[in-house]
Amino acid sequence: MLPTLKLPSLDRVVAEFDTVLRTLAAPAISERPHPDAHIDEAEMTAEEKRHAAGLMRVNHSGEVCAQALYQGQALTARDPAARQALKHAAHEEVEHLAWTAQRITELGSRPSLLNPLWYAGSLAMGVTAGLIGDRWNLGFLAETERQVGAHLQSHLTTLPPQDSKSRAVVAQMHTDEMTHAVLAEDLGGAPLPAPVRTLMTTTSKLMTSLSYRL
Ligand SMILES: [Fe+2]
Ligand SMILES: [Fe+2]
Repeated sequence: MLPTLKLPSLDRVVAEFDTVLRTLAAPAISERPHPDAHIDEAEMTAEEKRHAAGLMRVNHSGEVCAQALYQGQALTARDPAARQALKHAAHEEVEHLAWTAQRITELGSRPSLLNPLWYAGSLAMGVTAGLIGDRWNLGFLAETERQVGAHLQSHLTTLPPQDSKSRAVVAQMHTDEMTHAVLAEDLGGAPLPAPVRTLMTTTSKLMTSLSYRL
């Protein structure tokens, strides 16, 4: 049987558009203390700093994508309980945005110029998954969180060893993303077909290599 498509109300679209503008144009704020707040800046060579900034820029772009995905989820989810449960995860994504943005600045760099593009693409994917149905919407969210988690784990092996500030941020984000993945699965997220997972991995590799440089 074909899934029933349910379009979001105009009110919700307008409210979510406000989130778009805040994500892309205004500084994000964290209620929790930044995970690296108590850690001193380490001595790094210019090359190490450039590399750490590139990785944190990738992570920041990932968080921009997370904003779009959770927004797509909020726009299209039919189940109010799921929508409410995911609000906390979405709030933590805003904190991740704040942590990574601050770290990029501290490392003397700037966020990716391509963020509006990543945002638009992720929102389109999130809304499409949501229109197909909650199970797929949540499954897409869970798979994204797992892939982001694996990505963060890999950054812990390549960040400069002495950059404890970036490491503390990445480690806390990894913990949060794994919790988000389990939440989306517990709310009924369906495992995605292998070709979709492969497509997501390929897209994220492209995003990673471009955001690292741009
Ligand atoms: Fe995140
Ligand atoms: Fe997450």
